[in-house]
Amino acid sequence: MREVDFEKLIAEAAVGRDEELARVLGHGVKHPAYGKGRIQDIQKSEEGRELLLSVGFGKINKVFSITEFRREFLQKQYVMNQPSVPDLESFTSRVKEIFDNRWLTNFGGMHEEFSESLREIMDAEFVLPVTNATFGLTTLLNAMDLHGEMLTVPYTFPATYHALIHARNVSPRFVDVRRDNFGMDPDAAARAITERTAGILAVHAYGFPAAVEELSALAQEHDLPLIFDAAACFGVRKNGLSITQYGDASVLSFHATKVFNTAEGGAIICRDEALYDRCKLFINFGILGEDKIEFDGLNGKMDELRCALGLANLGQVEIALEKRKRVVESYLETLRELDHPQISYLPSLYDTSEQTLNYSYFPIIVTPSDGLDRDMLNQRLRRRGVFSRTYYYPTARESKICSDMEDSFESTPVSTQLSKEVLCLPVNPDFDEYDCACIMRELQEAIRET
Ligand SMILES: Cc1ncc(COP(=O)(O)O)c(C=O)c1O
Repeated sequence: MREVDFEKLIAEAAVGRDEELARVLGHGVKHPAYGKGRIQDIQKSEEGRELLLSVGFGKINKVFSITEFRREFLQKQYVMNQPSVPDLESFTSRVKEIFDNRWLTNFGGMHEEFSESLREIMDAEFVLPVTNATFGLTTLLNAMDLHGEMLTVPYTFPATYHALIHARNVSPRFVDVRRDNFGMDPDAAARAITERTAGILAVHAYGFPAAVEELSALAQEHDLPLIFDAAACFGVRKNGLSITQYGDASVLSFHATKVFNTAEGGAIICRDEALYDRCKLFINFGILGEDKIEFDGLNGKMDELRCALGLANLGQVEIALEKRKRVVESYLETLRELDHPQISYLPSLYDTSEQTLNYSYFPIIVTPSDGLDRDMLNQRLRRRGVFSRTYYYPTARESKICSDMEDSFESTPVSTQLSKEVLCLPVNPDFDEYDCACIMRELQEAIRET
């Protein structure tokens, strides 16, 4: 029996498939502690729900439940967002060019080519590659020279509000998110606007578009700048436009774990040339010319090597996005059939009539009941080799950083609840149908586990 067939048989092993399973009898296996053995027998557990495999290691016989067997013998682990790498040659040929030119950073040829490619992909007038999204947000907030409170959300990756805390003359005012898209609730934002409000910093959580039309209308009505933390949004489109075309400016992350990466990196996208110029000055120490320093900028330039990695990775990103889509569609199909009262996956998020998604994350909401909650399910999945993440926990509300900022919070019950109930399952372009089936099987078994 070919190894892959054996793994597949074991992965799909279930009570009632006796004929197929008989094929694994006598198959040689290797256990990390007991060494080489042979499958001797397959039986059902007493209550008849689980399969038990008896394995002979010389004179010793050991019995493993099918779950233990999968974990201990196959040891397959499913991790979140394994970084995508381009084919080596497409990167090294660019590295050679950089070495030949001896131009390593400070807006060189790779930087220009990378910016131009991003401008095209994002229908953008101005794109500024930067060292990472966190610094991109701080840069943008400083360059906009805002004064007062920025409305933002507690339900996000900490970088959003850390960047805001580090920007000059602004402080966060936290408003709640919507349960249907995890993004800022425009009604909650409207209620929180006062004469102190300087602008809105919303987040496209997990790469799902926030309520861009409502938030844009609100910002316009109150003449407030609207910025999006679009860290997880590479490739996301809404109504035929890149998601980064909404609001005054957006910031993308190109961190290694994102669908498109430059190892570390990010970009500021805007349509106002003056704002772009100020951001570009800010990430280059505020130096305007040899003898002119405009303001106290910092250093946030993306170097030539990272731009080269970005250009090489652009060559494969479309295929990776397509593969991610297939993984998520497979999960959706299984969960639709499962229709489990405790697991919701917000099907409306995946409606593609008006949007193109990038399938960065696959969040499910685990409603606590019958002794099973999100954290328990997460632990059980980890034991089964499925490494999910409890993004976004903790929220700003539970964060030590914001512990003395009680006055900065509106009521945010939805954020708090989601942070306790959402679990992001691994999505990886390398998962094939068989991997997806295993992950969904482990999920179902983890739910059933007592
Ligand atoms: C919503 C959000 N904002 C900001 C960041 C920070 O991005 P970077 O690592 O590029 O600074 C992340 C990273 O995961 C994120 O998810």
